[in-house]
Amino acid sequence: MKMKIAILTGGGDCPGLNGAIKWVTKSALDSRMAANRSVSFEVVGLVEGWKGILEVDPDDQKSCVRYIKHLDEEVVRTWDRYGGTNLGTSRTNPFNPKNDRSEKLIDNIKKLGIDAIVAIGGEDTLGVAYKLYKLGIKTVGIPKTIDNDLTGTEYSLGFDTAVNIIMEEIDRLRTTAGSHNRIFVVETMGRNAGWLALRGGECSGAYIILIPEYPFDMEKVCELLCERQGREIKYSIIVVAEGAKPIGQQEFLKDSHIDDFGHVSVGGIASYVASEIEKKTGLESRHITLSHLQRGGTPSAHDRLMARWFGIAAVNMIVNDDFGRMVSLERGEIATASLEEIINKLKLVDVKKYYDTERYNGRRTIL
Ligand code: F6P
Repeated sequence: MKMKIAILTGGGDCPGLNGAIKWVTKSALDSRMAANRSVSFEVVGLVEGWKGILEVDPDDQKSCVRYIKHLDEEVVRTWDRYGGTNLGTSRTNPFNPKNDRSEKLIDNIKKLGIDAIVAIGGEDTLGVAYKLYKLGIKTVGIPKTIDNDLTGTEYSLGFDTAVNIIMEEIDRLRTTAGSHNRIFVVETMGRNAGWLALRGGECSGAYIILIPEYPFDMEKVCELLCERQGREIKYSIIVVAEGAKPIGQQEFLKDSHIDDFGHVSVGGIASYVASEIEKKTGLESRHITLSHLQRGGTPSAHDRLMARWFGIAAVNMIVNDDFGRMVSLERGEIATASLEEIINKLKLVDVKKYYDTERYNGRRTIL
């Protein structure tokens, strides 16, 4: 039996996606493994996620060339060392209730002779994969989100690289913060979950970390900063997740844009915190939003390794007819999780376990 596997990447890009595409392709087409399988594969890449497969006209050769890419070991050979996604991505939701295009999607999948889809993405992309699975399409997921907020897995591609970027940028800020005696407020991504701010802040030795899971008191932030005055310390670094909010307030919005999955555009909290500090304490403060820098550049060693393992495991799932599930990491080992269990839920920071609500920082105790 021969199966056509189609790989796509959806949602925000991040380092590690290309590695996962490479390893799905390589392990699907590995001739030694093929000898032991009852199925052989052809692999294609779908350009721009769910958008591509909706927009492609299967009867038009030009359109197919635009949206469907042939993948083989030669094509993907060097991909694992590059960030972003060579297939392109989109935030298109074929099941958007305001414009449901799922019938067209399924029609195109069938017309293109696609037997299985490997969807690499976060909760939105994998939610679409789950809905398709329920409608009879064979789908497998690979977890990706720098926010690391997917349930069902300890790890999602992109997170480690993003934490490293936060750490490197804070290392850079320290010299200028120290020279000028300033407070620096660093805004990370993480609209719902504070993992990036917490882990990025912890490994950078940030003085204060503010996360969406624990609304903060601006007075308390100022008190903590003032405690340090008069000591040798010349500056303080505050890391704040974009979704963090002061007690009694909503998260700050960048603009009024709402995406196809109904998400608002959060951002601006670092600027608020910095100006409140200046107002309330007189301490000179600056803010910086790391924004998409956190998703840029080349993947870390960990993301390259996880991309490899996840890609290989996704092909195993197809070989074993294990659909409607995603690859996951459980206690450091590769496992699988049901897509049904991961949708409409997010893995948030367990405040009790990981957050020091007195010092607004990571805990100093290991539970
Ligand atoms: O993918 C999630 C995320 O990293 C969020 O933390 C952030 O709010 C969002 O992406 C921003 O994405 P974009 O501006 O690329 O749509």
